[in-house]
Amino acid sequence: MIRIKTNAEVELMRESALLVSSTLASLASLLKPGVTTAQLDKRAEEFILDHQAVPSFKNYRGYPYATCISVNDAVVHGFPNNKELKEGDLVSIDVGVYKNGFHGDSAYTFGIAPVAEPHQLLMKVTRDSLLMGIEKATAGSRVGDISFAIQDFTERKHKFGVVRELVGHGLGRQLHEDPQVPNYGKKGTGPKLKENMVIAIEPMINMGTKDVIYDADGWTVRTKDGMFSAHYEHTVCIKRGKADVLSSFSEIVAAENANTFLFSGY
Ligand code: MF3
Ligand code: CO
Repeated sequence: MIRIKTNAEVELMRESALLVSSTLASLASLLKPGVTTAQLDKRAEEFILDHQAVPSFKNYRGYPYATCISVNDAVVHGFPNNKELKEGDLVSIDVGVYKNGFHGDSAYTFGIAPVAEPHQLLMKVTRDSLLMGIEKATAGSRVGDISFAIQDFTERKHKFGVVRELVGHGLGRQLHEDPQVPNYGKKGTGPKLKENMVIAIEPMINMGTKDVIYDADGWTVRTKDGMFSAHYEHTVCIKRGKADVLSSFSEIVAAENANTFLFSGY
């Protein structure tokens, strides 16, 4: 069942989503060679708790951390660990917060400078595919219109691999609600989008094969061929004509641009 939000609920969700964005921005300023993803996770958790919220992911189905930090060939659900980041790493950070009864969910892929050119393209194409999906997230369209837009751009145009095993999702009082929002599919198919549905759109795009494998930890998803992967995610409210994006990359991009250790393509 797809839950439609009231306007007041959408505003609470915006607050949660923007707190995720601020959390990601605060991590952006810490990123540099030598930092560990465990340090980033600790900072994220403190930041979230300091803002009268709790991390959505911690203890969700037994997930043990506040964030998912997936480096290089890790696609999503990477465990923060004590390995030091280094030049050329792609660091995908996924954060969820629960505040005032509602979840916000957003992810961003950072590059530790210098980033190899093919990886720069992977970042740009993945992020642009999210924007193309968002363009289709309007009342009267169908979920498949979003899915098709993402797949057409990343797979048919750029020959990258769209991960099939994991998908975007509705969210609200629960982190995962209906509908599922795949990053692959056919136009004109799937549930119809209505005003004030809120969904997380989150393309997970691989340089090479779409196929993935799971680590022994039971969570970390990696590319089967070891090539790099990127992941961007926004919390999006469906509206007529143009979606209302509840999370924001502006503060993150500002922090990225201000941090000389980061590649900033935008
Ligand atoms: N954005 C991801 C998702 O919606 C993060 C979930 S991680 C988990 O699936 F630990 F909470 F599962
Ligand atoms: Co999500």
